[in-house]
Amino acid sequence: MENLVVLTGAGISAESGIKTFREMGGLWEEYDVMEVASPQAWEKNPELVMRFYNERRKKLLEALPNEGHRGLVELEKYFNVQIVTQNVDDLHERAGSKNILHLHGELKKARSTSDSNLIYEIDGWELKLGDTCEKGSQLRPHIVWFGETVPKISEAAIICEKADIMVVIGTSLNVYPAAGLLDYAPHGTPIYLIDPNDVGTKNNNITFIKEKAGTGVQQLFNILKEKYSFND
Ligand code: APR
Repeated sequence: MENLVVLTGAGISAESGIKTFREMGGLWEEYDVMEVASPQAWEKNPELVMRFYNERRKKLLEALPNEGHRGLVELEKYFNVQIVTQNVDDLHERAGSKNILHLHGELKKARSTSDSNLIYEIDGWELKLGDTCEKGSQLRPHIVWFGETVPKISEAAIICEKADIMVVIGTSLNVYPAAGLLDYAPHGTPIYLIDPNDVGTKNNNITFIKEKAGTGVQQLFNILKEKYSFND
């Protein structure tokens, strides 16, 4: 089975009602990213940071996976699918995808501020100041903040180096090192990019599918069915 590596961003969850970041009305229009998603913000105003992630977690509990997430699960019947997501939601998991790597953390998890190996599921939507790990240290959102290193980037690069097919869905490719993962795909690897808007990328081996994720993944499925002659 060919290795199909899928890099997803906020756009794949847009049809589930989850806001993207850089579009009109996106999260970074509403909040100053350095006030809610950086180590400096956590130092300066942890209550605001907690509130920002609690509000997003509350919305996530009401969201459901969409056709885009489900279409990727369907492709697991025909390809070795590996999801590398920039998203912190759990919609790929809830849709049924098996192999998921979260580059930027997970909204439904908390991490000890004294030992980053201590990671806990958050029960419900709220994480509070005063919630501590087993060592008594304050818990923080298990999110990679701006200015922090991306612990899983090497693992993600190795996955991309083994790609036979790359798919990019719902990311503006604005944020590195995630956006640089395309460069790890072997030379000549076919890349399919699903996005209703134009996405600037220097990579010239891209087939653009200018659709929302739900429709775009179905179109991709039909293209791959033709190219790899499998029957659904
Ligand atoms: N289907 C597919 N793509 C969509 C849809 C949709 N229904 N709606 C919007 N998009 C596209 C937009 O056109 C845009 O290209 O999704 C992309 C969202 O881009 P961003 O808002 O920049 O989100 P993303 O690329 O995931 O941001 C990367 O930046 O803020 C940090 O850590 C955060 O993981 C995030 C990273």
